[in-house]
Amino acid sequence: MDRTVAIDVSRLCKTYDSHNAVDELSFQVYAGEIFGLLGPNGAGKSTTLRTLITLLHPTSGTATIMGYDSVREADKVRAMIGYVPQERAIDRFLTGREHLQLLGALYHLTKEEATKRIGELLTLVELEAHADRPAKTYSGGMKRKLDIACGLLPDPKILFLDEPTLGLDVQSRLRIWEYVRMLKARGMTVVMTTNYLDEADQLCDRLAIIDGGKIKTMGSPAELKIALGGDIVALTLKEIDRMPALEADLKNRPAITSVRATTKGLDIRVESPEKALPTILESANRLGCSIEFIQYNRPRLDDVFIAHTGRAITESRPEAESA
Ligand SMILES: Nc1ncnc2c1ncn2[C@@H]1O[C@H](COP(=O)(O)OP(=O)(O)O)[C@@H](O)[C@H]1O
Ligand SMILES: [Mg+2]
Repeated sequence: MDRTVAIDVSRLCKTYDSHNAVDELSFQVYAGEIFGLLGPNGAGKSTTLRTLITLLHPTSGTATIMGYDSVREADKVRAMIGYVPQERAIDRFLTGREHLQLLGALYHLTKEEATKRIGELLTLVELEAHADRPAKTYSGGMKRKLDIACGLLPDPKILFLDEPTLGLDVQSRLRIWEYVRMLKARGMTVVMTTNYLDEADQLCDRLAIIDGGKIKTMGSPAELKIALGGDIVALTLKEIDRMPALEADLKNRPAITSVRATTKGLDIRVESPEKALPTILESANRLGCSIEFIQYNRPRLDDVFIAHTGRAITESRPEAESA
């Protein structure tokens, strides 16, 4: 993976009155990755994003975007980024196409450039058929697609998405995930916020879990789960007399992190089930241990969140987790 640093945030603070909305955040975003800020409402995600896009000045600390300082070189930064706010003040009386045309004029695109890019973007977000009716008649998902097209109009190197799928139905969420993956495939760097665990898990290459303005932990979803100790393979054995032999045999195997005896069998922590399962089955077979039942529990990002914040993330749409 490309480890070119696209964004470097160092000890960033933003204080409102005496409240630290963002408290000493430090992290880096690599070029070409999808980086997520995951946290509950009020965690400081939007404040962080708005500082990175130069809309807010930090109380202290710095943010550099492609080497440019977010305060001193704000113009340079703005020329390279696109932003999709949590809630865009879209004039729902204008048509989708008119919104993009208005923005095109703001960005000083020529008429030909604007027409070409707007056509491409409407195709990308599948709004061509609806481009010429008022945006106020759009569904939530269509409005969000228009928001994303607006964020992409300046052809940014880095796209900032604030809660891109908040409140959307499952189909629209999956569509938006597809666009984000497509943008990454085209080489764009994406920084997004979310309070959906499944979104962070499935979409982000790396993420920072943020709570109370502080980063609690950071890494790829897989790394964060492995850091909890890995997946658990729970064996229930038909007879437990040979269990100590199996336990001893499995300990110290490279594919196995740890083995713990339970009343009915063994709880085996593994990093990768594909590597560990054959070892476990071979060993049980060789030692004549009959397995009655195998249960496999993969730690979820929920577990990671709870381990680092001491509580569950407050999901505004819990049903999204089962999607
Ligand atoms: N303009 C503001 N004035 C005062 N407090 C603010 C302002 N913007 C955000 N906050 C506070 O800062 C904290 C972080 O807010 P925000 O960044 O919007 O969180 P998130 O996007 O994670 O939900 C919250 O406690 C919020 O009430
Ligand atoms: Mg927010």
